Amino acid sequence: MPQALIVYSTRTGETRKIAELIAEGLRFSAVNATIKDVTEIKREADLEGFDIYAFGSSTYHGEMMNRMKTLLFLAERAELKKKIGGAFGSFGWSGEAAERIYDTMKNIYGMDMVSAPLMLKGSAVDGGIRVAQGYGKDLAAKAS
Ligand SMILES: Cc1cc2nc3c(=O)[nH]c(=O)nc-3n(C[C@H](O)[C@H](O)[C@H](O)COP(=O)(O)O)c2cc1C
Repeated sequence: MPQALIVYSTRTGETRKIAELIAEGLRFSAVNATIKDVTEIKREADLEGFDIYAFGSSTYHGEMMNRMKTLLFLAERAELKKKIGGAFGSFGWSGEAAERIYDTMKNIYGMDMVSAPLMLKGSAVDGGIRVAQGYGKDLAAKAS
């Protein structure tokens, strides 16, 4: 069974809800999904041993949260090349965080990314539940 790691950074919980829905989509597709708050990832070894990775942060003042920036520097030293990747985040109006995370996973780590970052205003807005579950299914489909 493929293994997926979802790491999120959130201030008020919206991005965590998106992470949980992506995990549901992965599990529907017979992928074992592990969800971690970004503060639980302490060293690059904590990132190793997975086939699929999704990193997410909400956007504040046009940027991802600082904890996710720290994670992205740590992940540079992990073996992520050619692994399947996706990025996500809750946002209010501009949503830079998910795009920046996606670009880093693609350009710095050389990951095999799904087509686009997942940006949602909230898990319960604009069909967010289905869209986020669908993102998990898309990640799983790349592993099959
Ligand atoms: C002080 C502040 C600044 C924000 N700045 C942005 C921003 O620059 N761009 C944006 O799209 N959303 C911005 N937002 C909206 C948050 O991204 C949005 O509320 C999001 O759902 C929070 O997700 P979280 O609960 O995962 O932290 C801001 C919110 C606050 C309170």
